[in-house]
Amino acid sequence: MSDIIQVKELTKIYGDNLAVDHISFDVKQGEVFGFLGPNGAGKTTTIRMMVGLTQPQSGTAIIDDHDVLKDSVEVKKTIGLVPETSNLYGELTAFKNLIYQAELYEVSKKERDIRALNLLEEFGLKEHQEKPFQALSRGLKRRLTIAAALVHNPKILFLDEPTTGLDVMSARGLRMLVRDLKKKGITIFLTTHYIPEAENLCDRIAVIVKGRIRVIDTPENIKAQVKETEVLEIGLDHMPEGLKDHFPSIEGVEKILIHENRMRFHTQKVDQITPAVIQILDKRGAKIKTINTLSPTLEDAFVKITGLDLELMRIDKPMKMGPE
Ligand SMILES: Nc1ncnc2c1ncn2[C@@H]1O[C@H](COP(=O)(O)OP(=O)(O)OP(=O)(O)O)[C@@H](O)[C@H]1O
Ligand SMILES: [Mg+2]
Repeated sequence: MSDIIQVKELTKIYGDNLAVDHISFDVKQGEVFGFLGPNGAGKTTTIRMMVGLTQPQSGTAIIDDHDVLKDSVEVKKTIGLVPETSNLYGELTAFKNLIYQAELYEVSKKERDIRALNLLEEFGLKEHQEKPFQALSRGLKRRLTIAAALVHNPKILFLDEPTTGLDVMSARGLRMLVRDLKKKGITIFLTTHYIPEAENLCDRIAVIVKGRIRVIDTPENIKAQVKETEVLEIGLDHMPEGLKDHFPSIEGVEKILIHENRMRFHTQKVDQITPAVIQILDKRGAKIKTINTLSPTLEDAFVKITGLDLELMRIDKPMKMGPE
């Protein structure tokens, strides 16, 4: 399969902030490619450069054989963009928003109604077609925004944080929708800060931190980077203050992660560290409720590769959903 997206050394500087730092990657036709990174990593800026909404300081992006800098009109025909903040009109109905987008993309008058109605059907929005955008729930707003990005049958869809701010059910529905779009052959470039979402949806993931790509690979290959690591996971009845500080003295503990009442120890010597860990927990008055040895997850690999605290990836942003 040919590479439908080719990005080379793309760089964006805001003042003295190197927001995107010489990044290069290719996306294959039909692939779901994910940009995974914390807030401020440069995900949105990269999309904006790829679709011609902002100029890079240097570097190139070729989208379906068109250079974004030289041929942005052609690029816009090839792609659909679903920004973090919806670009639809609050007062217009779901149906009218689609028609309006179709007009912008110069879809013929004859085609517009057909496409809009098909998309409403396909996206489960038929019963809401006469409601103004602003009256829809968040999940439906996001769906309609995606539908609108598809009115001109683009080959590539850019989804910036498609599930941020959605409830669990809407987020799940949206992931199913992304899989359906992939089945139809649409190439999808998405950004996320949810590691499980990247793992679930993406054929390949680029991990981006502070404007730099740390790794690009399949979720399986990224996980394989920590295959010698084992994870000792201990669930506690409560998490005593400052508990984490008492373990680094144990030989063989590579990393400690804490989330709510669970501790995860990365090690290559799980049998050796377990008694020592239990002893310390006992001394600190923390009662053990569960104890398990696990295979490393993509989260563990992410921590090893980036050195970042997972809490950073769990921070959800305030909602921005366009007109409300
Ligand atoms: N228009 C702008 N002017 C100045 N600085 C900007 C602008 N847009 C982004 N930045 C800065 O560039 C960096 C990358 O921001 P960007 O929005 O691309 O990150 P992101 O990975 O999309 O983050 P998030 O997960 O919060 O959406 C940040 O330091 C941000 O403050
Ligand atoms: Mg962003």
